[in-house]
Amino acid sequence: MIKSDTIPPIGILGLGFLGQTLAREFTGVPECWGTWHKTPPPETPLKNFHFDWGSENSWTALPEGPETLVLTIPPLLKNQDDEEKRLCQWGEWMNLNRPMIKRMIYISSTGVYPKRNGIWYEDSEFEPDTNSGKLRLITEKTLAHFFKLQVIRPGGIYGCGRGIDMRLKSGKPVAVSKTPVHRIHVKDLARIVCYLVSNPESARSVNAVDNEPKPSWEVAQWLVRNRDDLSEEMLPIIPDSSSAVPGNSQRFISNQRILDLGITLSYPTFREGMGSVSLIS
Ligand SMILES: NC(=O)c1ccc[n+]([C@@H]2O[C@H](COP(=O)([O-])OP(=O)(O)OC[C@H]3O[C@@H](n4cnc5c(N)ncnc54)[C@H](OP(=O)(O)O)[C@@H]3O)[C@@H](O)[C@H]2O)c1
Repeated sequence: MIKSDTIPPIGILGLGFLGQTLAREFTGVPECWGTWHKTPPPETPLKNFHFDWGSENSWTALPEGPETLVLTIPPLLKNQDDEEKRLCQWGEWMNLNRPMIKRMIYISSTGVYPKRNGIWYEDSEFEPDTNSGKLRLITEKTLAHFFKLQVIRPGGIYGCGRGIDMRLKSGKPVAVSKTPVHRIHVKDLARIVCYLVSNPESARSVNAVDNEPKPSWEVAQWLVRNRDDLSEEMLPIIPDSSSAVPGNSQRFISNQRILDLGITLSYPTFREGMGSVSLIS
């Protein structure tokens, strides 16, 4: 938990997996709040209330401050033009009706980077090649018109009851692909958010990925060998490494920027993050 006098307060749009982890970090920081959509999250330590981003009637529920929002809600519409229009309407409404809220940290996705081999940096020249990646990039660009924006692009978010270990336990399939999967532990992601909240001038965008991207099936193999509560029988049928499974084995997303900022990861790889039995909190 953060000391209340060391960090500015935030409003969290979307108390989902990351939002709830973040809310725990900001317990005791005055003026913080968070929103929920379908059901109130259990035991949220912050003031919280219902909010539907897609409904204009719901926007008035947002308080006048604090100055900084963290947006964890994913794009709502599939059509890019419609989503851009919706974001513009909301941004204009916010600027007019909530002028004290000037800053935003937007949780985007590494999905903005093309599904091609290469090393992708925050400032690389690129075009997303999926509709979801395009929607994310449109969101980043549109929100920057209305807020002083910092963007975080996380890889797969895991930890505290979510991840490949939990998939194995519940008998769910594990993706078979040679593409390295970039991951970030939810607690490290929350720490990156905290860093940006406290350091508004530090970076306009950061990739939030750990030091060892690996295909999911390789992680699953490591887990059954190294965790007492997991066994070989839980593994779905996984091809050996010589078989022709699709994927871009040389697609990498750089985390150099978070390292340069001096942000250290508590879970630098999946080994630290999943090596012991996952706890819910
Ligand atoms: N999970 C990953 O591996 C991953 C990887 C890269 C990026 N991301 C993105 O990072 C962000 C945070 O991830 P997360 O895992 O914390 O996501 P999450 O658990 O799905 O949280 C998203 C939150 O947004 C809320 N929401 C959805 N539609 C809404 C609406 N119309 N109005 C208001 N709130 C709405 C959800 O509430 P309800 O559930 O009640 O609708 C939920 O609380 C998301 O944008 C996610 O897409 C996730």
